[in-house]
Amino acid sequence: MSTVTSTPDLQAQCLRQDPRIAAAKSLILQAVEEHQRPLASVRPPRPELEAESKALLDAFGTLRGGALFYPYLSSGLGNGPFVELIDGSVKLDFITGIGVHGYGHSHPDVVAAGIDAAISDTVMQGNLQQDVASLEFCKLLVSLARESGAALEHCFISSSGAMANENALKMAFQKNHPADRTIAFEHCFAGRTLVLSQLTDKAAYRQGLPPTLEVDYLPFFDEADPAGSTDRAVARLKEHLHRYPGRHANLWLEMIQGEGGYHVGDRNFFRALCEVAREHGLAVIVDEVQSFGRTTRPFAFQHFGLDDLVDIVTVGKISQACATLFTPAYQPKPGLISQTFTGSTWSIIAGKAIVEGLVNNGNFGPHGKNVQLHERFAAGLAEIAERRPGTIQGPYGLGGMVVFTAFDGSAEKAKDLTLRFFHAGLMSFMAGANPTRIRFLMPLACTTFDHIDLACQIIDQCIADVAEAE
Ligand SMILES: Cc1ncc(COP(=O)(O)O)c(C=O)c1O
Repeated sequence: MSTVTSTPDLQAQCLRQDPRIAAAKSLILQAVEEHQRPLASVRPPRPELEAESKALLDAFGTLRGGALFYPYLSSGLGNGPFVELIDGSVKLDFITGIGVHGYGHSHPDVVAAGIDAAISDTVMQGNLQQDVASLEFCKLLVSLARESGAALEHCFISSSGAMANENALKMAFQKNHPADRTIAFEHCFAGRTLVLSQLTDKAAYRQGLPPTLEVDYLPFFDEADPAGSTDRAVARLKEHLHRYPGRHANLWLEMIQGEGGYHVGDRNFFRALCEVAREHGLAVIVDEVQSFGRTTRPFAFQHFGLDDLVDIVTVGKISQACATLFTPAYQPKPGLISQTFTGSTWSIIAGKAIVEGLVNNGNFGPHGKNVQLHERFAAGLAEIAERRPGTIQGPYGLGGMVVFTAFDGSAEKAKDLTLRFFHAGLMSFMAGANPTRIRFLMPLACTTFDHIDLACQIIDQCIADVAEAE
């Protein structure tokens, strides 16, 4: 008789395959589905919850050292683009934590990922405590990044967009040592660490901070003058390179300026700049923390056809766990990059589910869902603009990033309108300055044309109210 036995399954596999886990998961998903179902349209706050909700918001504002922009504290349950707040109101969330819940609230894929994470051994993944989920997340991002030829073979997970960007900069500086300067676009946003607040082109975000990085700026693409703006940016790049020979480690590209107001660049513009940068040995770094998952391709650098020119790319927000992808040439030396926390186990498992969901559910492609949602929303806004002259300029943006300028484009008007939208049940946020625009980051997995039509109705009504009051 043979004594050979097959290798026994790991205990964790046995746990995951335990029928009680499958039954519990199915019960939890059923319960969530049942309780989220009524959250299917916007609702005003409930008067009986007003006092308690205000007390909680005030307490939180005091504890965190400043009031929240919106009186928004989620109840912890939502339904796709709808979210329930502690005051009993239901909002149509078209800003999604500035792109973070970009797959939708309480989405079953994300809830299921949470259950898988809950039976995993650690809350957090990181330096000495990673499991296969981290490997799978990296594998997915790398395989998508390489789909059309980019040489991005490596992926390092991190806990925030800022950390992914810090890691990107460190890799570029180490490889290109002793270069100590960076080149970036005017009005770019890269995060709020000491270094990134210098790279970010907004004085208020570095007020009172010591200088930590020398940055030379380029003018961004101008759609009204594509060839002229490309020539001007390339000329400026060459001036910087000539003025500080050998001192620039990288060219930093935020290709759809997020915080800057959703200004969209152009393939030829980026290619012209990247080619010059590459000739001078600079790393081409693309910051996709906001744009990842929102264009016609998983990565915006693919949408713009820069596969052959990118060295380092960062992603975040919709991917839940953030990451820095890089080519072998930029592999850091031991000790340069490490983190106790790269992300929570849930964020890493959910990140993979979300990215796979976007790929498998048709969000990408020239006529994919991201484009269709954009076109529907843009058509609705254009219709309002035409019917109410002088109220809306635009819309602008790309894919799952939509923006318009309201009235005179002043910060006061934009703030007033975003608050009006909020109280009427629609969530948006401001972006840029001179003009300050109003932006939308719809949840891409679950937004339907009906949701967009509802958003347009709310926008129309609020704009009519402001126009009437003037
Ligand atoms: C383009 C871009 N880069 C970096 C960041 C920073 O990401 P995080 O807030 O996760 O640190 C943001 C955040 O808004 C961003 O939009």
